[in-house]
Amino acid sequence: MKVINNNSLRNKNIGEMVNLYGWVAKKRDLGGVCFIDLRDRSGVIQLVARDGEVYDIASSLKSEAVLKVSGTVMERESKNPNMDTGDIEVELSSIEVLNSSADLPFEIVDDTTALEDTRLKYRYLDIRRNPIKNNLIIRHKIMMAVRKFLDKEDFIEIETPVLCKSTPEGARDYLVPSRVNKGKFYALPQSPQIFKQLLMVGGMERYFQIAKCFRDEDLRSDRQPEFTQVDLEMSFVDQDDVMNLTERLVAHVFKEVKNIDIKLPLRRMEYDEAMEKYGSDKPDLRFDMPINNITEIFKNTEFTVFKNVIESCGIINCLVVKGEADNYSRKSLDQLTEFVKTYKASGLAYLKINEEVTGSIAKVISDEELAKMKEELHLEIGDLVLIVADNKRSIVKAALGALRCKLARDLGLIKDGDYKLLWVINFPSFEYSEDEGRYVACHHPFTAPLDSDVDKLLTDKAHCYSKAYDIVINGYEAGGGSIRIHREDVQEKMFKALELSKEDIEDKFGFFVEALKYGTPPHGGLALGLDRFTMLLSGTENIRDVIAFPKTASANDLMCECPNTVSDKQLNELGISVEKL
Ligand code: AMO
Repeated sequence: MKVINNNSLRNKNIGEMVNLYGWVAKKRDLGGVCFIDLRDRSGVIQLVARDGEVYDIASSLKSEAVLKVSGTVMERESKNPNMDTGDIEVELSSIEVLNSSADLPFEIVDDTTALEDTRLKYRYLDIRRNPIKNNLIIRHKIMMAVRKFLDKEDFIEIETPVLCKSTPEGARDYLVPSRVNKGKFYALPQSPQIFKQLLMVGGMERYFQIAKCFRDEDLRSDRQPEFTQVDLEMSFVDQDDVMNLTERLVAHVFKEVKNIDIKLPLRRMEYDEAMEKYGSDKPDLRFDMPINNITEIFKNTEFTVFKNVIESCGIINCLVVKGEADNYSRKSLDQLTEFVKTYKASGLAYLKINEEVTGSIAKVISDEELAKMKEELHLEIGDLVLIVADNKRSIVKAALGALRCKLARDLGLIKDGDYKLLWVINFPSFEYSEDEGRYVACHHPFTAPLDSDVDKLLTDKAHCYSKAYDIVINGYEAGGGSIRIHREDVQEKMFKALELSKEDIEDKFGFFVEALKYGTPPHGGLALGLDRFTMLLSGTENIRDVIAFPKTASANDLMCECPNTVSDKQLNELGISVEKL
């Protein structure tokens, strides 16, 4: 049995006999003396084989061979300050080769040049590399800290089904065919939403689960088809209770895992303010540069582009990039224009504030407009002003919101290791779906409207706000939740607002609506995205780096080669035939 972690040995162990296990990370054979870096999960230690049989075995070793060795801990002649164990080495008395390794598809080093697809195909080798291994350790520490905290707060961990009826989170379901009920399907849960609410009806009062969720949606660098939530629900609570509990949980994890103190309570920002100032419901507050609305300044403009926008009730907004006027060439401004066009903006106007103001619209704005801009935006010599105007407010906000983040990255405005957390609250209850031609739930159909907005459910959907909240970290939506509707009459109103027919309601949520009748307590909850939270704490921007066996952007597992075809026998048993593609 392995008892010693290689990385636990230090000067204090000098003179001790030790048995170690691990993999050959590196070998340097100097003829008559051979140095081996032996790696286990904890780290690396240098072994020395001098003369005789141990030298012969050591010098014949290949990378990633698996060893059991015995030897004495000695002080090193030439110390390595870059290694935790760099002051010592183990002088070998025996080596047993437990296994050899085939030639590797890529070297096991921190800064690998291997393609990600190759790393994913041989993920078990990729996991030997420190960056991935350390992320998995951080993930484990987060889960342990979460469990410890929630247990202390009187939460009970309860598992909910994975084979279920589809839950209404808005993405497509992964379906599982039933053999015993041919032609019928289970859905994998997009979240345990309905079950956790039913647990509140069941009187469990405080539930949590580290739950696998499945969503068949278009993937991005912070999304996976199969991901994990820290899911919780509480009875007899209001928004403040859930937000207070969650922020204490998040602060606890930051402290336990990274020894970082998060100042509580977290800032709260209304959804409308976040969209207005940052063009996003998940604003990154590690840097400033808010979006400014300058529509009013141009109300009498003669410049046709702006004039047309104002006449069609559009808006003109801008960013002020402090001190960068002279650092953006025509070419780099063209690149920024191309960037905003990917957000459907028709263009990007700019002004360079120098003694003489230059830029694409310098000649078409009046002295008065310029003076007002200088005053309202506190413009100084050297500032660069980037302007988007459009008939659609959402296009202007999305384009400048994204541009703001791009500029911060390009200009290095984000400090390494900085964390900015906030709540975004009071989300709209509905958003209009062009595809479906109706209002759909912004969060899900069980989210309670603000008390003041219950009457707007049927009369003024565009201005109905909800008791929904998201916790945002460094521009990522780290978690989201809401207070739920616990009264049958309000739930019915909500379904009506969503234009769901009686049959739809009965078919999709009949059992749930039935449950609401039996003394449902007021309740609410939230789910944190464990993968995103781990990304944030381990400093990677790629969600695959924090998942042991992730899927690619096209939802493939390159190692197991799935999804894949199945045998005709399996299909027959399920009563399924597949069209030949
Ligand atoms: P929501 O859909 O906002 O809420 O999800 C909660 C959190 O889960 C994470 N997340 C994802 N992470 C990785 N890949 C994905 N595809 C993905 N989708 C979501 C995000 C998100 O904030 N049932 C509600 C919660 C509630 O109301 O209590 C829900 O699932 O970090």
